[in-house]
Amino acid sequence: MAAYEYETHAYDVVVVGAGGAGLRATLGMAEQGLRTACVTKVFPTRSHTVAAQGGIAASLSNMGPDHWQWHMYDTVKGSDWLGDTDAMEYLAREAPKAVYELEHYGVPFSRTEAGTIYQRPFGGHTTEFGEGPPVQRTCAAADRTGHAILHTLYGQSLKNNAEFYIEYFAIDLIMSEDGQCQGVLAWKLDDGTLHLFSAKMVVLATGGYGRAYFSATSAHTCTGDGGGMVARQGLPLQDMEFVQFHPTGIYGAGCLITEGARGEGGYLTNSEGERFMERYAPTYKDLASRDVVSRCMTMEIRDGRGVGAEGDHIHLHLNHLPPETLAERLPGISESAHIFAGVDVTKEPIPVLPTVHYNMGGIPTNYWGEVLNPTQDDPDRISPGLMAVGEAGCASVHGANRLGSNSLIDLVVFGRAAAIRAGQVVDPETAVPTPNKASIDAALARFDHYRYADGAIPTADLRLEMQKTMQADAAVFRTDKTLAEGCEKMDAVAAKVADLKVTDRSLVWNSDLMETLELTNLMPNALATIHSAVARKESRGAHAHEDYPDRDDENWRVHTLATVSDKVDLTYRPVHLDPLTTSEEGGIDLKKIAPKARVY
Ligand code: FUM
Repeated sequence: MAAYEYETHAYDVVVVGAGGAGLRATLGMAEQGLRTACVTKVFPTRSHTVAAQGGIAASLSNMGPDHWQWHMYDTVKGSDWLGDTDAMEYLAREAPKAVYELEHYGVPFSRTEAGTIYQRPFGGHTTEFGEGPPVQRTCAAADRTGHAILHTLYGQSLKNNAEFYIEYFAIDLIMSEDGQCQGVLAWKLDDGTLHLFSAKMVVLATGGYGRAYFSATSAHTCTGDGGGMVARQGLPLQDMEFVQFHPTGIYGAGCLITEGARGEGGYLTNSEGERFMERYAPTYKDLASRDVVSRCMTMEIRDGRGVGAEGDHIHLHLNHLPPETLAERLPGISESAHIFAGVDVTKEPIPVLPTVHYNMGGIPTNYWGEVLNPTQDDPDRISPGLMAVGEAGCASVHGANRLGSNSLIDLVVFGRAAAIRAGQVVDPETAVPTPNKASIDAALARFDHYRYADGAIPTADLRLEMQKTMQADAAVFRTDKTLAEGCEKMDAVAAKVADLKVTDRSLVWNSDLMETLELTNLMPNALATIHSAVARKESRGAHAHEDYPDRDDENWRVHTLATVSDKVDLTYRPVHLDPLTTSEEGGIDLKKIAPKARVY
């Protein structure tokens, strides 16, 4: 192995990733006076949160009556009763506070005539515990809400003296012999130097792994780096079978057309010009939960009612909406539709197709963001020194399916919660632990191994093979046969990692090596997804299993834990059924959220 030197840095907290969750955690840590570093592979305001369009859910009641308990009910139902009750209560209760904090930090939300934050309808968000009309709960900054939030949080983090290490790629976690996370080894991409960040707490905010699939709304940087690092330490990934397809990715290009488009009055039609969602979801129609809409679109296409020359997509109409509404509320997607589909949204429908958008699964945590390493005896055992927030984590607040606009609120509520918790458990007066030399050496050896990989398969070829396999076999609809074939194919794809070829041996701006390391992160995420999916013999949320079309609460209301080594081992842990507060204490009446059929 080549000899590597590295620069050392010591902090109270190191946050890996600078999207919405990473920046909110960084800001919250720094505000409390913790010495905080944020290590990020892209410039903070280019993190994937920048692409979030439609908005952030919170029961502010600016547009009509709303209540945090209605938000909680919708989240429970959206999760298809797989979310953890305590985490879902925390999300819905804390959401208004977290949004007002954003407003006070300076996020330029769109405004109502009265000057309050503008809120729009989004799928699955209702009133009166699902008995009333849709609610306008999604706070928006036009259709560029993520962009607005990221810029504000980055500015505030700098103001609070957080230190940023930008375009540093996290290679591996550094762990003590007894499983305490002690830091992270990173590679500075622009000059090739290596850096060891020691910390009392490491927060993984590395986003999802949408790029395990061929067509995704996720940025090319969404490579599940946190999940990969965690898996390499023998820690499990949770509920990875639940992969969300957004109903309206632009056909062919995959870019997102926000659900806010349907929130503002857009609707879907098939080749007969029929508004088919009225048939499937008579009450909420195009504003049913997005897993439901994606399945209905897929069924229309399979039944021969898709649009286009090959009958393989669906139309989204906005052309009936007033041009002023499009210009004011949906300027970004009007531009995307023009650029990526050649469509003038004031005149023509947009061709759309369900596209991979979000990972409900991830690194298991409690609602403070503390990573869990469950045992049979202690399913909530904490893995010391390590937190995960945002799409990288699984709190589990989205269960089997996330509601639109519950992602941005997850980022800020749980980024903030992690900071609150770190304020309680990280003592700024103690010394930063000396990192374990054996763990550093192992990380360096892995880095060197891929730098000099001299097999037969270019990284891009193997990545494509993985993406096509996942797209075909871990799709909107699944069967025992497709999933079993998918597992076999993915195992074969993963075995080929040993035969990768990297051609660039340098350390400066070596995108070949970086993409290889990213592929080694995507791979355990993809393996966990397909193996967890083949084992789950029911349909729930985004996991639509054609051989087991019903939800089976008796046997399957459990979280899957997948530990990935040279094979995937599955165990299960119970769903948290207890709320944070009883109804006597002002909490939700548990009868309101008892499992029932999920219809919209
Ligand atoms: O449709 C959208 O704007 C996406 C929002 C979300 O995924 O939460």
